[in-house]
Amino acid sequence: MSALGANRSIGGLEQAQGFAENPSADDPESTSMTALIDRIVNVHHAHLRKELPRLLKLADRVAEVHGPHDPALGELREVLAVLKDDLESHMIKEEWCVFPKIMRWEAARSTGLCPDEGDGSFRSLEIDHRDASATLARLRKLTNGFTAKADACAMYRVLLEGLAELEAELLQHVYEENDLLFPRACVAAALLRARAAIGGPLFQYRETW
Ligand SMILES: [Fe+2]
Ligand SMILES: [Fe+2]
Repeated sequence: MSALGANRSIGGLEQAQGFAENPSADDPESTSMTALIDRIVNVHHAHLRKELPRLLKLADRVAEVHGPHDPALGELREVLAVLKDDLESHMIKEEWCVFPKIMRWEAARSTGLCPDEGDGSFRSLEIDHRDASATLARLRKLTNGFTAKADACAMYRVLLEGLAELEAELLQHVYEENDLLFPRACVAAALLRARAAIGGPLFQYRETW
């Protein structure tokens, strides 16, 4: 295939993958990758950063008051502490390393610069997501599906409501990353590599970022 033909094919693929035209800022299914990242950080990461410390404090208090009569509350507190640490590290990895890289891939469509930054694999983040889901499943089991016993105190009920909300939020969060952002970013990286291989006046390599 000629360079011109290859360029036309890549352009068609970009259109087909929904990178370009008229993205809606409010719809995670069609917005740009940069806007989607903005939403993930400002909605989903903000929720975790607010809720995880609050829920852990509640779990501490519940375990302190009721733990002597219910050993599962001590485990609940420990499992939640692990989830908080894991997700806080995970968000830092995304915000400091992965998301800026994806935004540079997207920006490269208009700047014409071709960042040479890996192959668009998100395996390690997907493993983190799977582990967080497993930890949440453990919390669900320990709390009988986030259901309060008839004699549960008000504090424990608030904790269970918060955990159920955290689970639903995290489900949407992981969907937006695993099913919307990462597949599109993989395609963007592949397109940039293809364009770089073809060469052309708009594309140059940069050695470092
Ligand atoms: Fe995230
Ligand atoms: Fe994530």
